Amino acid sequence: MNLRWVGPLLKLFGTNWITLFGTNLTTISGLIIVAFLLLGVLGVVDSPYVAIMALMVLPGIFLFGLLLIPIGLYWERKKKKDGAPDRAERRLRYPIINLNKPRVRRVTLGVVILTTVNLLLISTVSYEAVAYMETTEFCGQICHTVMDPEFAAYLNSSHSKVKCVECHIGPGAPWFVRSKLSGLGQVIAVTFDTFERPIPTPVENLRPSQDTCEQCHWPGRFTGDKIKVITRYSEDETNTPLKTVLALHIGGGEREEGIHSWHIDPDKQTFYVAKDERRHEIAWIQVKEGDQITEYTLDGEDVDVDSLEPGAIRQMDCIDCHNRPTHVFKLPAEAMDESIYSGRISQSIPYIKKAGVEILTEVGNSLGTPEEVVQRLRAYYQENHSDFYSSEKQAVEQAVREIEAIYRRNVAPDMRLTWGTYPNNIGHQNFPGCFRCHDSEHESSDGRLIEQDCETCHTILAWDEENPEILQQLGLEQ
Ligand code: HEC
Ligand code: HEC
Ligand code: HEC
Ligand code: HEC
Ligand code: HEC
Repeated sequence: MNLRWVGPLLKLFGTNWITLFGTNLTTISGLIIVAFLLLGVLGVVDSPYVAIMALMVLPGIFLFGLLLIPIGLYWERKKKKDGAPDRAERRLRYPIINLNKPRVRRVTLGVVILTTVNLLLISTVSYEAVAYMETTEFCGQICHTVMDPEFAAYLNSSHSKVKCVECHIGPGAPWFVRSKLSGLGQVIAVTFDTFERPIPTPVENLRPSQDTCEQCHWPGRFTGDKIKVITRYSEDETNTPLKTVLALHIGGGEREEGIHSWHIDPDKQTFYVAKDERRHEIAWIQVKEGDQITEYTLDGEDVDVDSLEPGAIRQMDCIDCHNRPTHVFKLPAEAMDESIYSGRISQSIPYIKKAGVEILTEVGNSLGTPEEVVQRLRAYYQENHSDFYSSEKQAVEQAVREIEAIYRRNVAPDMRLTWGTYPNNIGHQNFPGCFRCHDSEHESSDGRLIEQDCETCHTILAWDEENPEILQQLGLEQ
């Protein structure tokens, strides 16, 4: 290979200190990027910080160096031109590139070769950087404190293998650009520590679920009825289990009855206006079914829809009910029930449900540390149940560790996230949920109410019973 272009090019780079500096920056950062990329491909290093260095910080330095090269050359030429004795030469705007001179030819060839190499490197890095920004690691782990609670809850959900961007951005170029712009704002907010704690919910401008959830979930799917057995433990000495059995009428498809049948029927659209940011108090609901339009309002509270700002009217979609498909934050009682049911906390420990719920609630409400939970629980058993504690120390200690884990999963003091910060809209037990509209108070002009009839959404087969007969009949005795 003919390498005679290298010499003149190096000489050109050395003509002034700006160009020389730029050349060094570019060469060194370029080599480190290539090394990192190779190590990444070989799987030797796999850390979010290395990725950030190789794909974002170093390319910045690389481009900056690249920019310095022509700036230095321009400055050098300007100096030369201004000092030139010949007036004609001083007036020339651009340098004369005479390809008949071997030296000029070699330099030009060198510039073309190096530019090709640089373009290749830049396009590889940009591609890798964009791909990297789509990873769960980037979204969930880079801004530790900020995303930790959502990330932890996500890992624990049925969507833990779905990438953050599949729900938060979805496919297509316009949303890609929007997400990068808002991402830039978020990076600035994190850098200068101006972000809100806790991160406000509902997420404004979340992409409509047709473009996210419905990439995987087919809305026409028919689910039918689903039997749900819910086990709650009482706050008595023996933590008595009580069972509730629901037949949830999920429906779907072409069926008339059922939750999905009505709410995700493609021929119906539901719009609403909320009075508060949390979308809990609903002032106005409109249902469009072809040409037929029905509006529901609260008695005596008329809403002047035309005078509202655009954006105040929201079209209901999957996320109005499934607002916690992956970041599920539990309340103390729910979390305790789940852990006792799954055996991570022994039901034989006296008053464990009551003690757990009380201590979790109090420490959480004052945004205390997980260690506080551990100390208070241990102290409670040592003082009030000392015999049990000494004979069953292992079981109590295991429960203490599990309750500490519940606390860590659901409370994040540094994000000011605690019990109930993120309400769940499915159901109506702990948060208004379905009853935001289904309260038998929203009324249409022809006097129809959005019903709260207990059998509309589910049949209650048993409600807080110790030994529900229905479970025996269904062969589901547990
Ligand atoms: C299955 C879809 C889905 C996935 C996957 C997902 N999210 Fe979310 N996320 C949501 C929905 C839905 C909301 C709440 C929307 C609302 O109530 O307005 C949300 C809310 C959030 C919020 C706002 C605070 C809150 O809890 O309401 C943050 C921050 C967040 N997600 C981060 C992430 C990160 C980081 C990942 C990846 C580790 C991720 N999300 C993955 C659907 C998803
Ligand atoms: C990339 C594909 C994908 C996307 C996007 C997605 N899901 Fe899912 N979802 C799944 C899979 C797969 C399961 C089944 C997981 C299992 O059973 O363990 C599931 C399960 C569910 C379930 C039932 C299990 C549960 O946790 O209650 C609900 C409800 C659900 N998804 C709602 C949503 C909503 C709402 C969105 C949009 C915010 C969404 N999904 C986005 C793939 C996806
Ligand atoms: C009106 C509220 C509402 C809307 C809107 C809604 N769902 Fe549901 N969905 C429910 C309820 C309630 C359940 C039952 C929850 C349970 O099993 O605990 C459910 C169950 C599910 C399940 C689990 C079904 C199973 O086999 O267990 C999936 C998946 C799901 N919904 C996806 C969606 C998707 C996708 C959308 C949007 C196209 C959507 N839902 C819109 C209320 C809703
Ligand atoms: C934003 C308001 C709103 C919310 C929130 C809401 N719904 Fe509805 N829902 C309606 C309206 C409006 C109707 C139609 C009422 C009518 O025409 O009788 C309806 C109808 C239904 C129906 C059909 C009733 C029938 O008579 O056949 C079911 C089932 C249902 N909703 C379930 C749910 C469930 C479950 C939830 C919570 C997970 C929920 N809805 C949350 C507004 C809402
Ligand atoms: C608009 C639909 C709707 C109506 C009306 C409705 N429910 Fe529910 N209910 C739900 C949904 C959805 C769940 C949550 C199921 C789950 O856990 O996923 C639920 C859960 C429950 C539970 C179990 C709570 C728990 O977690 O222990 C009980 C009990 C219950 N409902 C009682 C009632 C009673 C009583 C009425 C009548 C006043 C009623 N429901 C009306 C939708 C409805």
